[in-house]
Amino acid sequence: MSILFTNIKELLQVREHTNEPLRGKEMDDLPSIKNAYLWLEDGLIKDYGSMDDFLPHPAEEVYDCTDKIITPGYVDSHTHLVFAATREREFEDRIHGLTYEEIAARGGGILNSAASLEKMTEDELYEQARLRLDNVVAQGTTAIEIKSGYGLSVESELKILRVISRLKKSGTSNNCIIPIKATFLGAHAFPVKYKENREGYIKLIIEEMLPKIAEEQLADYVDVFCEKNYFTVDEMLRIIEAGSAYGLKSKVHVNQFTSLGAIDAAVKAGAVSVDHLEVMGNEDFTALSGAKTIATALPSCSFFLGLDYAPVNEMIDQNVAVSLASDYNPGSTPSGNLNFVFSLACIKMRMTPQRAFNALTVNAAHALEVHDELGSITIGKRANLMVFKNIDGIAALPYNFGQVIIDQVVVDGEFI
Ligand code: NIG
Ligand code: FE
Repeated sequence: MSILFTNIKELLQVREHTNEPLRGKEMDDLPSIKNAYLWLEDGLIKDYGSMDDFLPHPAEEVYDCTDKIITPGYVDSHTHLVFAATREREFEDRIHGLTYEEIAARGGGILNSAASLEKMTEDELYEQARLRLDNVVAQGTTAIEIKSGYGLSVESELKILRVISRLKKSGTSNNCIIPIKATFLGAHAFPVKYKENREGYIKLIIEEMLPKIAEEQLADYVDVFCEKNYFTVDEMLRIIEAGSAYGLKSKVHVNQFTSLGAIDAAVKAGAVSVDHLEVMGNEDFTALSGAKTIATALPSCSFFLGLDYAPVNEMIDQNVAVSLASDYNPGSTPSGNLNFVFSLACIKMRMTPQRAFNALTVNAAHALEVHDELGSITIGKRANLMVFKNIDGIAALPYNFGQVIIDQVVVDGEFI
């Protein structure tokens, strides 16, 4: 199947290759072609260029795009999209003055989500998660990471990972398949019965959960919530190491509320990404400067909890590879809308639209290790695209905050 888009008003994020994540001044550049054509074949990008150089291409479908802007789709490298129940009660508690940490200390938070998930069947969880996937794909997410972490027992962690595995194969309700990566986050919190026996839970993760997950090939990454009252830096390192013995690379939650030295440790341990980063000390910047590890900021989490935002411009200025993700989860970010993340990045973190879009596409693809197939308009990459009508340029996306102005989403060369 071959599709040709002609007279495209502007084709954005056009790159010959994206072997490396973007850093420093590279983040300011959003390469584009005005009055362009784009040729897709069998779900892949076959050719593109300026209409001035256009030679007739064989195509079954041809679309005139005089009033359209075409970009690659977003990549969401950090979500907890499989969960059992929403947590509005805690939302109201926070409005009345309780903090996220106080709610967690009362047995709310992650433990609350684990309790409701335990009661739900795998099929029910799958049906709910699939609807959420439908929703985010319609909002432009064309590759996604999904974590476990609301199980906290062998059975429930496996239940979530099996749901993710089913979503990988089935895709959305209309069978639209986007790349999905699964992350094992058994180390999200200590379950109540292990409160006085941390070692017992870490052993359960390392000696029971990980071997089973590896045997069923249910995870691509391992994650740890490294934070005061959760997992220490040493515990994080033990779990990263145990995961790597099963071939799992790591993506970790660090520096959300406190700077504990986790970034330096994770970078040295070869983590693919460190995520959150709201609270950063000088040594954290130093550890990330020039590192291969991607720094993923989650501004909609800061927005929802009313807390600090990650200092992304400072990181970019210090040669850190910055990406953005949603953190979609029932506690701190009940939204997977990357258009809103884009607006927050510009409005609250003062990223330019160019920087934020690079962080949501090219660098996000690196954070999910899908940069060879997604994140830019590049020959040979998958044709996962967003089409916008009657807008003048990239700034229109964050400017229209709270709205999804995407005209059409394309996955593997097909309109969804
Ligand atoms: O990334 N910070 C840890 N985990 C999630 C939130 C978990 C929850 O509150 O359910 C996050 O924000
Ligand atoms: Fe998270």
